[in-house]
Amino acid sequence: MNDIKKILVPVDGSPASKKASERAVEIARKYGSDITFVTVANTPDMFNVGDYRFKVHYNYDNVINNNKKIQAEMLDSVIGELDIEGINFDKKVVSGEPAEEIIRIAKDCEYDYIIMGRRGFSKFTRFFVGSVTQRVIAESPCAAVIVVKE
Ligand SMILES: Nc1ncnc2c1ncn2[C@@H]1O[C@H](COP(=O)(O)OP(=O)(O)O)[C@@H](O)[C@H]1O
Ligand SMILES: [Mg+2]
Repeated sequence: MNDIKKILVPVDGSPASKKASERAVEIARKYGSDITFVTVANTPDMFNVGDYRFKVHYNYDNVINNNKKIQAEMLDSVIGELDIEGINFDKKVVSGEPAEEIIRIAKDCEYDYIIMGRRGFSKFTRFFVGSVTQRVIAESPCAAVIVVKE
């Protein structure tokens, strides 16, 4: 196995992403890797705010900041459940389109592995693997993407 210096773990709070986080910690402990946990908060455009009047009156920055705050709390609680002692890790909370942001961060920061869940929260199980994971597998610049079942 190649060196696993840096692992990126995208977390949406789903059971699969929690499992992925646990696996990442195990691997990090074994190979001395650093972990970055990242969560992507949705932007208002993704909430179906198609209505023009609604958009005009809506404060986008407030919505984004509020979503980021909620996601940051979620991420802290997921990390809080991990056996993380002795592991070097950091956290990122960004907003935008999840797959795009995950791929962008993976490219910018040269992660060796991405470890993520097979599914998230979507009720539409048209695909065996969730759409965010599909895109990351297809477009990731990392050496490997590990997909963890819930
Ligand atoms: N907003 C997000 N921020 C960070 N990671 C995410 C986000 N959405 C999905 N993921 C990652 O992708 C995995 C699969 O989720 P996804 O592809 O969205 O499946 P689904 O279609 O079932 O929601 C999750 O377990 C998580 O690791
Ligand atoms: Mg999802």
